[in-house]
Amino acid sequence: MADLARLANAFFASLPGSAPSDGVPSGGAPFGKGLSDSALPGGVSALAGVSPVEPFPSGAAASLGAAERHAGETLPAGIADGLELGSPEAYAAALPTLFPAAGGLAPLAGGAPSTPYYFLGEGSAYSGEPERFADLPVEPDSRAVPGGDALGEVLRSILAEPSAPAAPAGPGAGQFYFLERSGPGLEQAPDPVVQPQVRSGFDVQAVRRDFPILAERVNGKPLVWFDNAATTQKPKAVIDRLAYFYEHENSNIHRAAHELAARATDAYEGARSKAARFLGAKSTDEIVFVRGATEGINLLANTFGRRFIGEGDEIIVSHLEHHANIVPWQLLANAVGARLKVIPVDDSGQIILEEYARLLGPRTRLVSITQVSNALGTVTPVAEVIALAHAAGARVLVDGAQSVSHLKVDVRALDADFFVFSGHKVFGPTGIGVVYGKQELLDELPPWQGGGNMIADVTFEKTQYQGAPARFEAGTGNIADAVGLGAALDYVERIGLEAIARYEHELLEYATRGLATIPGLRLIGTAANKASVLSFVLQGYRTEEIGAALNREGVAVRSGHHCAQPILRRFGVETTVRPSLAFYNTFDEIDLLVSTVHRLATRR
Ligand code: ALA
Repeated sequence: MADLARLANAFFASLPGSAPSDGVPSGGAPFGKGLSDSALPGGVSALAGVSPVEPFPSGAAASLGAAERHAGETLPAGIADGLELGSPEAYAAALPTLFPAAGGLAPLAGGAPSTPYYFLGEGSAYSGEPERFADLPVEPDSRAVPGGDALGEVLRSILAEPSAPAAPAGPGAGQFYFLERSGPGLEQAPDPVVQPQVRSGFDVQAVRRDFPILAERVNGKPLVWFDNAATTQKPKAVIDRLAYFYEHENSNIHRAAHELAARATDAYEGARSKAARFLGAKSTDEIVFVRGATEGINLLANTFGRRFIGEGDEIIVSHLEHHANIVPWQLLANAVGARLKVIPVDDSGQIILEEYARLLGPRTRLVSITQVSNALGTVTPVAEVIALAHAAGARVLVDGAQSVSHLKVDVRALDADFFVFSGHKVFGPTGIGVVYGKQELLDELPPWQGGGNMIADVTFEKTQYQGAPARFEAGTGNIADAVGLGAALDYVERIGLEAIARYEHELLEYATRGLATIPGLRLIGTAANKASVLSFVLQGYRTEEIGAALNREGVAVRSGHHCAQPILRRFGVETTVRPSLAFYNTFDEIDLLVSTVHRLATRR
């Protein structure tokens, strides 16, 4: 850490206009002089698990420190007693000299991260590039800041000197940030490129630091995770919660009088409360833990379906559905002699409500519809769908697998009868998901799997079952991952789904505009109301070729049929390339996506 402080001193001392003496940059606070967080006005550091949505003060220079100043937050372990805090006024003062264009900052199309510059000292993640620093775990990281490349050059020349600092501790050294404070001279330089983030008040760089995997490199390039519709990455808060469970709480639940059984049961039932709060459920008894949305729909087909859907009855789904919301209903329909009806979509990929209204009838027992299409990104009008179904006497299941990470859901405001989602698509672990059901409905349903935990009394003649939710949770469930899911929901709520939705909307609009400039590119799914997904095909290329080209740039997208063949065929294609966004994505990453695909298009 002291080495890192020396690097910082050398860096700021090397800036034009700086007159260092005794390692103290002119106009700035000393590095390595034991500044504590309380010495910094406004508090410091926005790191793991902390809401990053504090709006920035206006102006670029103010944003220099804003990313790191969130009142009441604590420093990551190992920093508070270290030497790394500093105030790089010299950096701010030098910007116009370093980057004369655009008043000192080179504009980046579409916006820029809010953190102007920081160093990462990381055990291994940054050691691969550039080559000559292969053994140096200290790497300047501009995070695509305006002018960051030029700054990187300054840093690299410092590192290349024979007296360059030695590597700090190896793996586990953690990330170190140089924390900045505002002050005179920091309020002047205008920075138009941060405007998109000022508008949404969303500090994407702060949230990115909560996701360790985003520091990975793929093919020598920083990982760009645009496969969020397939699964989302996990914040440190979730990873740590899982580890804590196994280190301090692990036990089976509901079954023993010992201490760890109590801890594990509390943790698991606590996660159920979080899920109930997250969805706006009336009671924790309305929340059933399952493996994921797919298992949730299968549970309902085998319980609600078996009890309430019979020969000649009708089930309505939409043309947008994921296979998980088609196949279980087909299986049921084939078994009981029911019919499956399909709501058509228009050419934008939105369901046609008038056609839906015509499909509803006296035999309709259930409407099962996605809230956000995983293949197209369409946000369906589920409130209207539910109201119309209820008027016709039918129940509604909403598939929220793709919606809960992008939109605030309130099952009671929607009046949904059932709602399912998967933990792994909302920054939680795989193998855990939720079925919400109105209590009076769940109480009427038969069990679907038999075993321990779901029974009240068993004899060889007869078994009495528990009420919901235990009735639907036979056997030992995925206890730790339920707890991890609770941590994920806490994390998302701390950031705020409204803030997430606003920021992602800006990203989606920006990406849509960018992709529209590419010759030969056809966007599949152009509904007015969309979330997170950009599905496209490019003339002259197979979708997997585009996926592979993007992968060479470190960009992960899904190319394929997205487990939603009917809707792709509706648009005359078998597969698409599908970048899908989350709140930790940036405008720069979208620039990389667009420029890579653009290059392919023009090379054709
Ligand atoms: N359903 C997931 C997807 O859309 C796997 O990619």
